[in-house]
Amino acid sequence: MRKQTPIAELLRATEATSDIEIAGWVRTRRDAKEFSFLELNDGSCLANLQAVLDSACQGFDSIRDATTGSAVRIRGDLVTSLGKGQRWEVRTTHLEIVGRCPEDYPLQKKRHGDEFLRTIAHLRSRTNKFGAMFRIRSRLSYAVHQFFQDRGFHYIHTPIVTGLDCEGAGEMFRVSTIDPHTIATQGKFTYADDFFGKAAHLTVSGQLAVETYCLALSKVYTFGPTFRSENSNTSRHAAEFWMIEPEIAFADLDDDMRLAEEFVRYLVAFLRSDCRDDLALFNQFVDPELEQRLDNIQNSEFVRLSYTDAIDILLKSNVVFEFAPRWGADLQSEHERYLAEQHFKGPVFVHDWPTEIKAFYMRNNDDGRTVAAMDLLMPKVGELIGGSQREERLETLQARLLALGFRPEDYWWYLDTRRFGTAPHAGFGLGFERFLMLVTGVSNIRDVIPFPRTPNNLEF
Ligand code: 4AD
Ligand code: MG
Repeated sequence: MRKQTPIAELLRATEATSDIEIAGWVRTRRDAKEFSFLELNDGSCLANLQAVLDSACQGFDSIRDATTGSAVRIRGDLVTSLGKGQRWEVRTTHLEIVGRCPEDYPLQKKRHGDEFLRTIAHLRSRTNKFGAMFRIRSRLSYAVHQFFQDRGFHYIHTPIVTGLDCEGAGEMFRVSTIDPHTIATQGKFTYADDFFGKAAHLTVSGQLAVETYCLALSKVYTFGPTFRSENSNTSRHAAEFWMIEPEIAFADLDDDMRLAEEFVRYLVAFLRSDCRDDLALFNQFVDPELEQRLDNIQNSEFVRLSYTDAIDILLKSNVVFEFAPRWGADLQSEHERYLAEQHFKGPVFVHDWPTEIKAFYMRNNDDGRTVAAMDLLMPKVGELIGGSQREERLETLQARLLALGFRPEDYWWYLDTRRFGTAPHAGFGLGFERFLMLVTGVSNIRDVIPFPRTPNNLEF
């Protein structure tokens, strides 16, 4: 088999090259009197490569089958293009139709609405915008690993199925092999009959598991899918999403915020140098303010503000919010956006939150009413990161579990880490889809994940 060259590589060529082979999909075909032109895309980059064919080309008699969407393989010479807007084109000597594409192909038109494309998630990656999105997603995944691996963090594969029914981060999906119809007809159910012999759920966060590794390997992270069944049909929530969760030992909330800031800046810098062409598409067609927002993230100090001060600012803002800000209540997304977009016009850490509205594992502050937690708020997406210093004191943690009505024996392994050589530690979770929305300007989470899962939406 001949080896084809990716279009991205050919477009970077510095000299003409004879006898190359490429394989890809036809975006458009134009027929002139003596020539046909194919715009080919193989997904290696945003740009197409133009192939020029005439009747001397072997296989030219099948040119009518080179319709939009069809898969083709061509051979020819890479030569300087006489046409405008491109440096190279292929003077084609061989054409092979690999897979035909009939007229009912849904991507005949050049531009389609996002909503329509969501109904064909299995094909939308063939459009410029979604091709660009998922190349960016791939490169940023790589950058996530690069950032942590370069700094001596170890990647921990935390489990997807958990035996805990509270991991402190949201509503959970059940995992079971028992058919609900069987339960309905038999009228009884015991967990002893189920696969694990106990209740099982999909994880909402890898944090509790990764903490145990933190207290052995010092610097760790997990990056994987997480699941939340809260029925919030918003443009920023998905039932299945990916989260990056680092955890650092012998560290406090300040160290945690410093790491989060360095991480976010790193990813933005990587994106801008690595994904120029794909990023330019979003700036041009999706969000004209994108470059400015990325500049802002790279050049501004991330503000650090206590929750108490944040509430003060909201109360003094003279803005009529749908939900009145109140000390002790969670920040609503309108509050988050006001702080990041209007008041500070940039990234804001809100730290030291009221104990009652935060998870059991967050470290109690000396004031007796707040915990060492932080959220990073961003223009456009609101909360991008949630994190905290963890409660490392055994008695305090046990008391907190009891106060919340949990059974400490369910958390015996978690409590063991506080019993045996406990140490201060901290970590955070960055929602990968929220980050992608932030850096591409795409305003619906369904358009930054290959196959979105949201309430009443599970295509296949
Ligand atoms: O703030 P959260 O719930 O924090 C945790 O899960 C902690 N265990 C993280 C940690 O300390 N290791 O979630 C973290 C981030 C949020 O800031 C948000 O960006 C994203 O995950 N997120 C979601 N993204 C998409 N859809 C959802 N339903 C999300 N819920 C949270
Ligand atoms: Mg949160």
